[in-house]
Amino acid sequence: MTYETILVERADDVTTITLNRPQAKNAMNPQMHFDMCRALAEVEADDSRVLVITGAGDSFCAGMDIKEYFYDPEGQPGGRTAARKAAFEWMFGRLRILPKPTIAAVNGWCFGGAFAWLAVCDFAIASETAKFGLSEVNWGIIPAGGVTKLVSQLLAPRDALHLIMTGEPIGARRAAEIRLINDVVPSEQLPRATLGLADELKKKNPTVLAYCKEVFRVDQTLTLEEALAFESAKWAELDVVSKKTWHQGALQFKQDRSYRPGLESYDWKK
Ligand code: ACO
Repeated sequence: MTYETILVERADDVTTITLNRPQAKNAMNPQMHFDMCRALAEVEADDSRVLVITGAGDSFCAGMDIKEYFYDPEGQPGGRTAARKAAFEWMFGRLRILPKPTIAAVNGWCFGGAFAWLAVCDFAIASETAKFGLSEVNWGIIPAGGVTKLVSQLLAPRDALHLIMTGEPIGARRAAEIRLINDVVPSEQLPRATLGLADELKKKNPTVLAYCKEVFRVDQTLTLEEALAFESAKWAELDVVSKKTWHQGALQFKQDRSYRPGLESYDWKK
């Protein structure tokens, strides 16, 4: 399928979505939200193993489009309601709980609303030239659309409030220090580092990975007692769905001595 504002490519079991409005630094206009909803529904159903999201040109994503998303719809019938619903759907209804690993490959500017979906990607690797900022305060709004909530979960309070209240951009090394991202690499190595992580993830049993991720997401809002019960229930469900795949893992270690679980993955394709 082709889209107006994004490119979707598949190679070696990895789907890459590239935000493709470089003339606007990949700011998210309403059409981009509609396109992302459709593209993520497609990725959810396809047989790719890993999703990578990145940006075209020198920008990852300059946040919401200040003109087309915020200013122009003011006073129009419906305003920005449809676009906002689409934004919430792709970021939180689809990307956050996509049953496969997701990696943000941050190639440049990353501002405002881009933090919402950066935060819900499972992993983030940035080029050393990337810059991150919660610029909302710089033009008179608050970081909304889940951004304040998500950065407060991801970062230490002092780091989150520094970003939120100063609007000061930080470089990729600082972003890695405060754990906004997993890693920072020289620009030319970003594609290789991203695909290297995707290759590692592809070695794992995809069904087990999907359960790991679902349990991690849901556990965030549970008490310890609830989490213990939920994890047990999910373990039992995985046993049924995967036909006790872990018996293979145990036998390959105990009987075949073909691998060491502390250091590598069992052969789940057997
Ligand atoms: N919304 C709409 N248009 C944008 C956005 C945006 N968020 N970001 C960049 N653009 C447009 C610019 O208006 C400009 O368009 P024009 O060529 O038609 O004038 C084009 O992209 C290039 O931008 P420049 O400012 O010329 O590029 P420069 O490299 O000098 O600066 C930077 C890049 C730092 C990203 C700057 O454009 C900027 O500050 N953008 C706004 C970032 C921001 O604050 N985003 C958060 C929005 S709030 C939210 O997401 C909730």
